[in-house]
Amino acid sequence: MINDIIIAIDGHSGCGKSTTSKLLAKNLNFKYLDSGAMYRAVTLFFINRGISHCDTKKIENELDNIIIDFKYVKDNQHIFLNNQDVENDIRSDEISNKVSLFSSNSSIRKFLVNKQKAFGVNKNIIVEGRDITTVVFPDAEIKVFMTAEIQVRAKRRFNEMKSKNPEITYSDVIKNLEDRDTQDSNRKDSPLVIADDAFILDTSDLEIKDQVDKIINFIENKFY
Ligand code: DC
Repeated sequence: MINDIIIAIDGHSGCGKSTTSKLLAKNLNFKYLDSGAMYRAVTLFFINRGISHCDTKKIENELDNIIIDFKYVKDNQHIFLNNQDVENDIRSDEISNKVSLFSSNSSIRKFLVNKQKAFGVNKNIIVEGRDITTVVFPDAEIKVFMTAEIQVRAKRRFNEMKSKNPEITYSDVIKNLEDRDTQDSNRKDSPLVIADDAFILDTSDLEIKDQVDKIINFIENKFY
């Protein structure tokens, strides 16, 4: 039985990290932490207060006023910002376009990394994001780096979003993914990089079930 480990998953935007992590967590009976949702919630908080991602002084003064929790709503994990369910709000275009800017602010990163580390103290958790294998849990027993071709990622994301946002175009989605890849990989603090000991999973030609199976095989080959 797979037990007493942390599974850290990093990778590019839109390559299926969240869906894979959720299914993997269900199969292994592990907890699941979506660290990107935390960066999105903090971005929403500062946008609502009209505070820019560059205004580190104002940001630092407000961080103590941010409470982030995860709760289950009809079998789905939702993120709550100061006791308000913001699961849908954090997926808007505005937040998707601005989150990389706020997530390059080191004060915000420090604040969220501490919270993410606290979630992992009892292990048996899957944590996904951009710096989980390198900064948040550099000693995680299992590290995975997920990626996929940009056209495949954009197509998946476009199909997912068009019912919620009929105005959106395929080229908007590709532009957002390209911008986020560039910002996430080039920022000074904790850029998205491949950890030396990570299992690299290219999901371009894989279904979700195959992605989960490949990660489980990797874990079993490593430990059991
Ligand atoms: O996984 P996501 O697309 O919801 O993440 C939103 C943004 O948050 C992403 O563009 C970069 C940032 N992020 C980060 O900097 N570090 C993490 N551990 C997770 C997300």
